[in-house]
Amino acid sequence: MLSQFIGTGPNFWLPRQGSTSAAGVDFLFNAVTSISIFFFVLITVVLFYFVYKYRARPGHKAQASAVHNQTLEVTWTVIPLLIVVWIFWEGFTGFLNLQTPPQNAYEVQVLGQKWKWLFTYPNGVVDDNLHVPPDEPIRLVMTSQDVLHSLYVPDFRIKRDVVPGRYEREWFQATAPGEYQIFCAEYCGTSHSAMLSQVIVHKSRPEFEKWLADAGNFLDKLPPERLWEGGQKLYNQRGCKQCHSVDGNPGIGPSFKGIWGHNQPLKGGAQVLVEENYVRESILNPQAKIVAGFEPVMPTYQGRLKDKEITAIIAYLKTLE
Ligand code: CUA
Repeated sequence: MLSQFIGTGPNFWLPRQGSTSAAGVDFLFNAVTSISIFFFVLITVVLFYFVYKYRARPGHKAQASAVHNQTLEVTWTVIPLLIVVWIFWEGFTGFLNLQTPPQNAYEVQVLGQKWKWLFTYPNGVVDDNLHVPPDEPIRLVMTSQDVLHSLYVPDFRIKRDVVPGRYEREWFQATAPGEYQIFCAEYCGTSHSAMLSQVIVHKSRPEFEKWLADAGNFLDKLPPERLWEGGQKLYNQRGCKQCHSVDGNPGIGPSFKGIWGHNQPLKGGAQVLVEENYVRESILNPQAKIVAGFEPVMPTYQGRLKDKEITAIIAYLKTLE
């Protein structure tokens, strides 16, 4: 029963522990919670006792306060002082530890954008989930494409703001294979709550390496007639999905359904035929032609999608009749 409230996660307060830093964070959280509950109960009980004991009664007169009690005052000053200094020390050293990745950490680049996390690995693979090997320190070098976001992995007890125009660092070491939820913890606009990804901790380093190698050449493995499947994967993975539906419903941007080979009305009254060059231009220079009724909010994919990837996305668009 008590372990539901005090102890290691998962419990009433805390999610499961998935990283090496989780235990230290939980220990301090439990310590502060326990100390707070202890003093809350102590002070409240004494308060009610005194209210009762010194209540106003007929025939009782108010008395002068007791003289200054030095022992009592020193005690109730020094003990709380030691406690808060200890809490500061534990918090400060824990903070420094979370700030300082080990030298040998494996590095993954993180990009936050409206409304998607993207993770780039040393071999150039980009994925919308954070794949890592177990029991190895992972260093995240993080920035944002547009506004403030915050990468938050509750199970790892890590959270850090991601800021455009600068790099933030964070590190963790996962302790068990599995999937762990990533949230965006900084309100960043319409689809903030949908800015979700997973940390996928592989079973072993070789399994992770295999995933990385396969992810690096998935388009090359597809025959031309199945290139659209690669485009569909990119659509889901690279943040197209967040704004462009494939069921005909307009979102932040126009739906992709049934637009191929048709004219789209543009802001200002002109029309444009949806064909290869228009789609390519809209991906690399999204502000060039804005479809009527939508805002010019799409980020550029210049340098972030290769030609072959754009070709695959075009192939996928053609399938959406
Ligand atoms: Cu990104 Cu909230």
